[in-house]
Amino acid sequence: MLMTAARRAAGNAHSPCSGIRVGAAVLTGHERVFVGCNVENASLGLTTCAERVAIQSAVAAGEKELVAVAVFSPEIEGITPCGACRQVMAEFRAPAPPGLLVLVQGKRGTEAIPLSKLLPRAFTGSKGGGG
Ligand code: THU
Repeated sequence: MLMTAARRAAGNAHSPCSGIRVGAAVLTGHERVFVGCNVENASLGLTTCAERVAIQSAVAAGEKELVAVAVFSPEIEGITPCGACRQVMAEFRAPAPPGLLVLVQGKRGTEAIPLSKLLPRAFTGSKGGGG
């Protein structure tokens, strides 16, 4: 299960600055799973969220269509992906409906939220005349 993979990845978090562990797992259109954890740095601005580590790992393996992302943190109550991660997810969401589903599990339990709800009208870079 995707959330189990995210939970396991949270165990590898490198978070000496915040003490917050986050794990993520992405499911691709080819049914492959890639995981990530948050990787902090003494130079704080260099921190990378678990979601982006997982997505970048999928892309590095040639997987550019994501159907689901699971995010787990044992510390955060109602965890949801940050704005930067939402934008990165939008870049690689599966084009066919229902698009990309985001599963979140923090201290409050599990929730499934479509990316289209977390980031409506995402910037796509399209130069089309569609307003
Ligand atoms: N973090 C994530 O990895 N994913 C999220 O969705 C929210 C925040 C990390 C970044 C940082 O290492 C720590 O959580 C506290 O912000």
